[in-house]
Amino acid sequence: MLFGKKDHLVGLDIGSSSIKVAEITEVKKGSTLAKFGMINIAPGLIEDGSVKDPETVADIIRQLFKAYNIKERNVAIAVGGYSVIVKKIVVQTMSEEQLQDTIQFEAEQYIPFDITDVNIDFQILGENESNPNQMNVLLVAAKTDVVNDFVNLAQMAGMNPCIIDVDAFALQNIFEANYELENENLALIDIGASKTSLNILKDGNSVFMRDVSLGCGQINQKIISLVDCSFEEAEEIKLGGQTNKLSMEDLSDIISGVVTDWCTEIRRALDFFYSTYPEDQIKRIILSGGGGNIKEFRQLLAVETSATVQIINPFENFYVDDERFDISYINKIAPQASICMGLATRKADDK
Ligand SMILES: Nc1ncnc2c1ncn2[C@@H]1O[C@H](COP(=O)(O)OP(=O)(O)OP(=O)(O)O)[C@@H](O)[C@H]1O
Ligand SMILES: [Mg+2]
Repeated sequence: MLFGKKDHLVGLDIGSSSIKVAEITEVKKGSTLAKFGMINIAPGLIEDGSVKDPETVADIIRQLFKAYNIKERNVAIAVGGYSVIVKKIVVQTMSEEQLQDTIQFEAEQYIPFDITDVNIDFQILGENESNPNQMNVLLVAAKTDVVNDFVNLAQMAGMNPCIIDVDAFALQNIFEANYELENENLALIDIGASKTSLNILKDGNSVFMRDVSLGCGQINQKIISLVDCSFEEAEEIKLGGQTNKLSMEDLSDIISGVVTDWCTEIRRALDFFYSTYPEDQIKRIILSGGGGNIKEFRQLLAVETSATVQIINPFENFYVDDERFDISYINKIAPQASICMGLATRKADDK
């Protein structure tokens, strides 16, 4: 390759409502956003975390790369949702090779799926605080068919998926790339159209991750169940479009109901954290994904958790040339670009 490093890649976030792609380059000015593209996809193409219509989605990915003139074919993609489980476990101290041989067995008790249906990865975190003969290990298990679905999809689109990441990790990476980690506890939460990723950091380290099947699409479904309309119409109504089908009051009730559900689920995760670390307090919640745009959600979450709720800007520390990008558009979609930007910060030879 003449230009660029061999380990260079593009972040490709295949969401259920839109696909995002970002490329970052290191130049004299520092880390720079070289390419960014986003395209909405029809509902149903990706559903319940699996790819329903790979040919169509692969075509859309190809078009996206073409439209934004992206030549790089090495990509980092991510899986998320209920098909992924990330957990800190404690095992007897052993070498990485030994753990490689026994991880299936160790993992079995923590995974609610059949162990033969999952891809397992792990990272040794270090000695356990309370028992020096044991070590803490970060266990990552993802359903094999879901991972294969997304790998096949990327390949079908002509891409070379060199990194298969997890949404919650990508979120942590983009947060760290943009913000100083103070000695604090915070929750990173990405609320998309159909899934929510949650990652709680304690003193800068992830101590709890959970993905749940909640998202903004729930609002569309509630609108559809109340008025006779298509998903696209429901989307317009949701985003405040003029309609005589649904009163402002009814829309507001629907949104209230859905965001209350989200807050309950988030509270549950935070309570889990508090049961392990009763002395600690989560002071900040950083939101991303389309759900972060919902003001009422942010307000309710702040009240329910007594935390400061902020929206992430994944471009904060990156140079974004205003001659190449429409800055107001970039600002508008910024929360939705977080996972994609997190993927774009990876290198092809990362583990
Ligand atoms: N201001 C807003 N109010 C309500 N909903 C919004 C707003 N802005 C974006 N959304 C919703 O956010 C969703 C898109 O968010 P995002 O791009 O994070 O999802 P996705 O990555 O495609 O989905 P997923 O990660 O769940 O597969 C859509 O349902 C969209 O309607
Ligand atoms: Mg998403």
